[in-house]
Amino acid sequence: MMEHSLFQSPKKSKNILPKNTLNSVKVSLYRCLYLSIILLFQILILNFVLGTPSKSISIHNQILQQKPKPLPLTLPSLQNKECQSGMVFVYDLPVMFNKELIDNCQDLDPWHSRCNAVSNDGLGPITSGISAGMPENLAPAWYWTDMFAGEIIYHARMLKHKCRTTEPDLATAFYIPFYAGLAVAKYLFRNYTAKERDWHGKMLLEWLQDQPYWKRSNGSDHFIMLGRMTWDFRRSKNEDWGSSFINMSAMKQILRLCVERNPWDHLEISVPYPTGFHPKSKSDLDLWLNFVQTRNRTNLFTFVGGKRKVKSDFRSLLSSHCYNESDSCRVVDCSGTRCYDGTWEVLEAFLDSDFCLQPRGDAHTRKSTFDCMLAGSIPVFFWKRSIYDQYQWFLTAQPENFSVFIDRKDVRNGASIKKVLEGYSREQVRRMREKVIEFIPRFVYNYIGSDDTPDAFDLAIDGVLKRLKEQKEPNNAQLKEE
Ligand SMILES: *[C@@H]1O[C@H](CO)[C@@H](O)[C@H](O)[C@H]1NC(C)=O
Ligand SMILES: *[C@@H]1O[C@H](CO)[C@@H](O)[C@H](O)[C@H]1NC(C)=O
Ligand SMILES: *[C@@H]1O[C@H](CO)[C@@H](O)[C@H](O)[C@H]1NC(C)=O
Ligand SMILES: *[C@@H]1O[C@H](CO)[C@@H](O)[C@H](O)[C@H]1NC(C)=O
Ligand SMILES: *[C@@H]1O[C@H](CO)[C@@H](O)[C@H](O)[C@H]1NC(C)=O
Ligand SMILES: *[C@@H]1O[C@H](CO)[C@@H](O)[C@H](O)[C@H]1NC(C)=O
Repeated sequence: MMEHSLFQSPKKSKNILPKNTLNSVKVSLYRCLYLSIILLFQILILNFVLGTPSKSISIHNQILQQKPKPLPLTLPSLQNKECQSGMVFVYDLPVMFNKELIDNCQDLDPWHSRCNAVSNDGLGPITSGISAGMPENLAPAWYWTDMFAGEIIYHARMLKHKCRTTEPDLATAFYIPFYAGLAVAKYLFRNYTAKERDWHGKMLLEWLQDQPYWKRSNGSDHFIMLGRMTWDFRRSKNEDWGSSFINMSAMKQILRLCVERNPWDHLEISVPYPTGFHPKSKSDLDLWLNFVQTRNRTNLFTFVGGKRKVKSDFRSLLSSHCYNESDSCRVVDCSGTRCYDGTWEVLEAFLDSDFCLQPRGDAHTRKSTFDCMLAGSIPVFFWKRSIYDQYQWFLTAQPENFSVFIDRKDVRNGASIKKVLEGYSREQVRRMREKVIEFIPRFVYNYIGSDDTPDAFDLAIDGVLKRLKEQKEPNNAQLKEE
């Protein structure tokens, strides 16, 4: 992978999930009340615990100075239980926009075959067995899932969605199952022309604009899932990075789910990167939650990542910090492609640590953040943009409740990460971890076909449907809010 400069300046539940104890509350009316009380209680406690300003360096200081306009985002819950937010029509696109890309998986990337990555409806190959010490019953729930496979996973899940309709006239929303990330991937890293990088996207939009249900709305009730970061589709000058798919005029009204959103674009919603855990039932999920909750962690923090051969590389600095504190930090060196092809070493390191360091990657966000949280480890960010204004539907909009922020400048100036992390009391760590674990069911992607518990996909689609429904019937929505 390469470092690309575009990212520097892109121009400028509440569904409380399974604490096992909560599940026994049966009567829904009481349950509502009960949950509200619990929520209120948690808020009070968190206020007390986390609201106390920490003395150490600029942790939790002001959010982005140049803060994007806040969005009226609310956490979706299971609003769409009876599809009252409407139905989705899934376009049956010409195969060149999805199936053919998968069939030609050996050509998707200039260096390696991507056939494993796109297999199994995007879940990837099932792992053989499970790491020693993890619950063996969960072996069938683990896959080597590729970080950019979301497009395929969303498509497979959408086809089976309970609110899918094959009658466009009945639809509130239109889903476009174009694998834009797969289509552009091989053109990103070599000297292809702008025309080549844009070809699939351009063809797709031409096809779409000929459809009768497009003409009715010009795309304002359409949505798409982009498996790569938004920055890969936002080229504005020919010589820049990526395709210009999102820049094309027909895209102007289409809602986009993607793994990293542009915080200044209200038509973008970021969704979690897929991790390798795909529970097949609620009991799989509960087993895992219980496992990470009771895990005895032997390291204060961990750093998983590769060093880059660039001047004053921040990741190299973190790695050096970690080696120097080897009694409390564990390093997993992922230089080269060491961590690509499936290794349990990464997950084990997270499972053994209270905190995990999450510098930015090629983009601001990282799949690793979700791997870390899946293991019940608390993420430590160095860029606000790695977490603020991202994933609000899944992790809430208050990262300070479940993560630590240390300004990278302080680290560069010699601040000790260990000292900052040691400054958190056991109780504070416990609170943050509890939050992290509470979010796991919201950011994992269940095994396709299991709909025991709402997962990241369900929350994303419910949110999209709700939003499009309100957009179509603004009067109703206002009434409801009053
Ligand atoms: C997060 O913490 C803040 C105080 O720091 C509190 O006001 C807020 O309610 C908390 N949010 C959640 C979802 O617990
Ligand atoms: C990339 O291609 C363009 C035109 O096709 C050419 O002018 C340019 O020199 C090439 N750059 C590299 C680094 O090969
Ligand atoms: C869609 O766009 C076309 C061309 O700009 C315009 O003529 C038409 O009125 C638009 N339709 C809707 C429903 O906005
Ligand atoms: C992208 O959009 C900007 C502004 O709408 C436009 O000036 C530019 O030409 C577009 N770039 C491409 C490659 O289409
Ligand atoms: C964790 O450590 C405690 C105390 O050493 C022990 O009682 C407990 O059984 C351990 N838990 C696990 C899951 O190993
Ligand atoms: C780690 O230790 C080495 C040797 O003592 C030192 O040169 C280096 O600056 C230290 N790195 C950090 C990040 O503290």
